[in-house]
Amino acid sequence: MGDDLATLRKQAGAEATVHLADARRLEEFLEPSSIDAVITSPPYPNEKDYTRTTRLESVLLGFIRDKQDLRALKQGFVRSNTRSVYKADADDALVADHEGIQRIARLIEERRIEQGKTSGFERQYARVTKLYFGGMVRHLAGLRNSLRPGARLAYVVGDQASYLRVMIRTGRILGELAQSLGYELTAIDLFRTRIATAGRQYLREEVVRLRWLG
Ligand SMILES: C[S@@+](CC[C@H](N)C(=O)[O-])C[C@H]1O[C@@H](n2cnc3c(N)ncnc32)[C@H](O)[C@@H]1O
Repeated sequence: MGDDLATLRKQAGAEATVHLADARRLEEFLEPSSIDAVITSPPYPNEKDYTRTTRLESVLLGFIRDKQDLRALKQGFVRSNTRSVYKADADDALVADHEGIQRIARLIEERRIEQGKTSGFERQYARVTKLYFGGMVRHLAGLRNSLRPGARLAYVVGDQASYLRVMIRTGRILGELAQSLGYELTAIDLFRTRIATAGRQYLREEVVRLRWLG
């Protein structure tokens, strides 16, 4: 990474601005009609705490000093795991009328009860699934004003079956949500497949490609 950065430094004319911010609140810091392309790998509903995978770097680089800082960082994330869910979270309301997501959440909850799983984290599985997609809706909705007509977008996401083996076809659902917000769904490209640890089902890792026509 160090070598890559040293190489890039020599390339003149490529300006970059880094915002340390919540991608669900883009309208607060991006200029209207200023974006031509979005390429990103957002979280998936995969029970992974992204603050954990980068905690050492976050401390060494001075982004977090104590538990309050860590909490603030987590609160600025799209919800993708039950360790980072808060009472006041309300992104789930944004997918209240999406029948597919509601069905998945009901199935997770039914399985949890059937299997007698009662820990505090397990009780959050259904909710975190709705919070995840609600967070992505908030991101995609807030982004629209900053996009130029014709802008192209690419989201790398993967299917998940982390919650009691209930299949979540992340790319397909994200594509549907984007369409309901006025985006054109150009394609869902298959990047690779993995076999779910728990069963015989294939999990697809995909690139959801969108266009914003204005
Ligand atoms: C699937 S990972 C992608 C990692 C990235 N490709 C990389 O190499 O670092 C998802 C990333 O989204 C970040 N993230 C989660 N919620 C976010 C939010 N609301 N705004 C901005 N980034 C967020 C997480 O910290 C995590 O690094």
